[in-house]
Amino acid sequence: MARIVAGVTSSHVPAIGAAIDNHRTSEPYWQRVFEGFERSKEWIAKVKPDVCIVVYNDHASAFSVEMIPTFALGTAAEFPIADEGWGPRPVPVVKGHPQLAAHIAQSVILDEFDLTLCNKMEVDHGLTVPLNLMFGTPKEWPCPVIPLAVNVVMFPPPTGNRCFNLGRAIKKAVESYPEDLKVVVFGTGGMSHQISGQRAGLINSKFDHAFLDNLTRNPQKLVRMDHLEYMREAGAEGVEMVMWLIMRGALEDKVDEVYRFYTVPASNTAVGHIILENRSKGGRKAAARKPAAKSRKSAPKLKRAAARQKIQRIRS
Ligand SMILES: [Fe+2]
Repeated sequence: MARIVAGVTSSHVPAIGAAIDNHRTSEPYWQRVFEGFERSKEWIAKVKPDVCIVVYNDHASAFSVEMIPTFALGTAAEFPIADEGWGPRPVPVVKGHPQLAAHIAQSVILDEFDLTLCNKMEVDHGLTVPLNLMFGTPKEWPCPVIPLAVNVVMFPPPTGNRCFNLGRAIKKAVESYPEDLKVVVFGTGGMSHQISGQRAGLINSKFDHAFLDNLTRNPQKLVRMDHLEYMREAGAEGVEMVMWLIMRGALEDKVDEVYRFYTVPASNTAVGHIILENRSKGGRKAAARKPAAKSRKSAPKLKRAAARQKIQRIRS
């Protein structure tokens, strides 16, 4: 049986892609952004997902104002890199997983989520930048990717609640896939930013940190947040964060936050990144915990170890 082991959120700022492509990652401005993902790269190299489902938004590359699906699932065998005005990014073609994607489509649509199915689709920085941040710059991406494009560019985007419930439906779909696959779900975009208008450059770190806290511990607090609140608190483009709720809905209720990174700014955006592991579906911490958890006597020890890990995480 396939299983979702973890969720990752990551900003998908286009300038991060440009910094990678133009070999500027070691410049002081960019260094702190990329250093923040070094541990994440180590983490995902250990997890070795068989498939990643990447929730992102298209930026008028595959779609345009003439046609914008609310939820578009990539069911193709591969997804070429879009030309966003200065040629396609020099990154590998994204290979899909048509079998799992078709299975997700079947299950999720029968669960009454009306997905648009894309058997041909180019992918832009919204998908490729998070792949770079997590996997670096390999010759080939290390695993197949199923893109899920969400409309957050033309109002009305889907609600956070709708996104969370779609995540739940994706979880159910993946868990009913017969092949033994380890799946990681990415939620991308955010955090607070506004790229035009009087409030261009808006950053709200207090809101961002509270959002990350709730994403881990209390996502139900986020699912009812309406679009106006996202825009008021996190800027017009901050509404991208509804996509993170698809990732969170695809995880279990209780998760382990194994890493968090936040920095300001990257371009004119707050970069927020979090890694959440499922407790019972084979997350690394869950696997490490399993044998010890059988012994009642070891429970206090585990609690102390968890507290130590938490403190280390906060300090790092
Ligand atoms: Fe975006």
